[in-house]
Amino acid sequence: MSFKQAAARAGANIALVKYWGKRDQRLNLPAAGSISITLAGLETRTTVTPDPTLGADEFVLDGVEQPPGRVGAVLDLVRERAGATVACRVESRNNFPTGAGLASSASGFAALVVAAAQAFGLQLSESELSGLARRGSGSAARSIFGGFAEMDPGHRENGVDAVARPLLSAEEWPLEVVVAITDSGSKAVGSRDGMNHTMRTSPYYPAWVETVAEDLDAARSAIAARDFEALAETAEHSALKMHASMLAARPGLVYWNPATLACLHAVRALRSAGTGVFFTIDAGPQLKAVCLPGESERVAGLLADQPGVSDVLVTGLGGGAARAAVP
Ligand code: PMV
Repeated sequence: MSFKQAAARAGANIALVKYWGKRDQRLNLPAAGSISITLAGLETRTTVTPDPTLGADEFVLDGVEQPPGRVGAVLDLVRERAGATVACRVESRNNFPTGAGLASSASGFAALVVAAAQAFGLQLSESELSGLARRGSGSAARSIFGGFAEMDPGHRENGVDAVARPLLSAEEWPLEVVVAITDSGSKAVGSRDGMNHTMRTSPYYPAWVETVAEDLDAARSAIAARDFEALAETAEHSALKMHASMLAARPGLVYWNPATLACLHAVRALRSAGTGVFFTIDAGPQLKAVCLPGESERVAGLLADQPGVSDVLVTGLGGGAARAAVP
């Protein structure tokens, strides 16, 4: 069995039609589809080093040793395919502030599967890599692709069809993104626990699942037509509807703080006044503003002025996960 050290990079992504809830816990199958944009500026770089002298997998994130947890579980899937058993050292770095409550699991697991597949000499299609990344984190399946990507919930029980596919490249519609950091503590309930709690206790959850397909249709058409207004309307609706289902859980999950709401109103006021911008919010207090090309500087200036905003990050759409030189 041959193996070698390998590295990869992948960008974080932000869902415009959200994923919230699973139809299978073990295989990490989503209850519904989702559509996202992959970001250029927020990325994870990961090196996988198979090492026969190691007794167990090791995982170091931003220089800090972590329990291997789901990283080890995803490595097991790669080793199983390769017919290998050798333990690995995994070193990962995010180029964006850690603890900022940004979706690092998506870029992290996408980079991990690309590096690990290469380390074990597996020739996998992007679709197979997407399915493997999904086992680490549902949103990671989308970070295999750049630009706009759609996650298919799949219909098969074994989950082979629960993978993402590309819709449009970053170059074909180079939207810009501003992230307003409103709390760098990030003590929120993690997405896995938050999803399960919402599924179990929110009377609005069935309505959420029933209506995702129509949002996907609307977003897909808006992206194909580069119709920013239609995409803005659908994306804000999807985000607010997801949060409504969380708020109706028992006890309710409130991910927002006053600064999140201040940013939401600021984005709405800007759009009413003619600026091409809409917001989205994930399972945390940061607000992400998606802008037409050329609008991000103005939006960043306005969001930076909102009370409680500690920092703003400005970026664009980027490419998919890719091999990288071993550092
Ligand atoms: O991939 P996970 O398990 O971290 O879940 C992601 C959940 C949201 O970020 C709230 C929505 C999404 O589709 O990315």
